[in-house]
Amino acid sequence: MKSNTSWLDNAVFYEIYPQSFNDTNGDGIGDFNGIIEKLDYIKSLGCNAVWLNPCFESPFGDAGYDVSDYYSAAPRYGTNEDLKRLFEECHKRDMHILLDLVPGHTSVEHNWFKESMKSEKNTYSDRYIWTDSIWEEPQGMGCIRGISDRDGSCAVNFFSHQPALNYGFYKCDRPWQQPMDGEGPRATLEEMKNIMRFWLSMGCDGFRVDMAGSLVKHDEDGKGTIKLWQNVREFLDREFPEAVMVSEWGEPDKSLQGGFHMDFLLHFGPSHYNDLFRCEEPFFSSRGKGNVSEFVSKYEENYEKSEKKGLICIPSGNHDMDRLARSIKGDELKIAFAFLLSMPGAPFIYYGDEIGMRYVEGLASVEGGYGRTGSRSPMQWDNTVNAGFSSAPKEKLYIKQDESADRPTVQSQTADENSLWHEIQQLIRIRQAHKALQSNGEITFVYAEKNAYPLAYMRSAENEKILVIINPAGREVCFECEYAPKEKIYSFGGEINAAEGKISVPPCFSGFYII
Ligand code: NOJ
Repeated sequence: MKSNTSWLDNAVFYEIYPQSFNDTNGDGIGDFNGIIEKLDYIKSLGCNAVWLNPCFESPFGDAGYDVSDYYSAAPRYGTNEDLKRLFEECHKRDMHILLDLVPGHTSVEHNWFKESMKSEKNTYSDRYIWTDSIWEEPQGMGCIRGISDRDGSCAVNFFSHQPALNYGFYKCDRPWQQPMDGEGPRATLEEMKNIMRFWLSMGCDGFRVDMAGSLVKHDEDGKGTIKLWQNVREFLDREFPEAVMVSEWGEPDKSLQGGFHMDFLLHFGPSHYNDLFRCEEPFFSSRGKGNVSEFVSKYEENYEKSEKKGLICIPSGNHDMDRLARSIKGDELKIAFAFLLSMPGAPFIYYGDEIGMRYVEGLASVEGGYGRTGSRSPMQWDNTVNAGFSSAPKEKLYIKQDESADRPTVQSQTADENSLWHEIQQLIRIRQAHKALQSNGEITFVYAEKNAYPLAYMRSAENEKILVIINPAGREVCFECEYAPKEKIYSFGGEINAAEGKISVPPCFSGFYII
């Protein structure tokens, strides 16, 4: 039985890159059955929701973010029936599952695009953004041109094989630009709703939306795109009120207004997310030379703008970023997860991050991965052949695996009670037992000074207040704090000492205290 969207409050997501998770038919690529087989594993970690990367028919020039048929599962993963079974198996376990919706562009191999390339006017002529002469390029967007008889250039949205779907322009200044309420843009949006309707009726719980802020063009303040998503939310409220929407947008003030439940804090744009884990001197390194203050001030700005809804998701990583374990290691990872699992908004754990999977260096690009390929290598389950991922010959694996002798596996991590895996499991359990630590609990920062450690913040909900203290630095630090910690509910790396309005914090430490 599904409940309403309040499940998001204590949701902890697990992102699955289907290619690389678990292969049950021995072809070297993961599949839906493989995911079903591992749902109990995901649940045992404490995650109760899944975000599945695109799994639709595609020529895989961008790992499936180049869809050629939104209504069919890619045969490499299984059938629509198998995907439906995956939804059901999630629900049986009280888990939820979001699909990845790619509304901004398709593959050049999509039938819509093939039709739209024709010079004769047809149903799909306006499905994409075309100029009305091959000699005019759509400003600032990149384009595809000269590949068909149509006398025009087609705007692209990402790679040059991903033509931009047409949702219209907020401001039109050329004759070929269509307004949002033009016939072509309206038809594109209606079709996107049909796609959502199709998968929601089959049982998925909602969508992570790719490049959600990119749809309406010439829309600097996002007003048109917000309006478009409000329209989608109205449709969902009418037909699928329980559908959950999480955006890849990175501007929560806009996305939440557009009706999204949550927005990702992203590694690009002005978020300072990379200051934490992925820069020369990350805050979470024990070298202790990082700076968390700019991240915090940006976060506070977004938090205020989104009316303290706290629905900004901070992922451990994703299929576009370097693996967390590329720049921080060992206990640093445990401390990073204490932060990730005690912040507002639902946490997202990228598959394999829970065992500290490494970025595989020096790989050739696979399916449009380029530098991202090293973060997409197959999951390491155990010490059997191909780390238990697949029975295929090693050369047939989707991406080469980490071949180091000491590569982490689920087997070794679950057997060791001091492992990262067990730390994360414990942190999730604690989060789920305390409302203040969950998605909607409020946050106020207590200590987040420039070039200084620790980071301290207060989480609160109803009558519960929890002080979180995070000190990744390998040195003892001290900060002024008006709150006196009462009961400890979690600690890693020693004990704090609180006296006379000051708290001294041991090196490489994280702890949660009821106030
Ligand atoms: C963001 C996705 O996360 C990324 O993997 C993809 O390449 C682009 N959007 C284009 O869809």
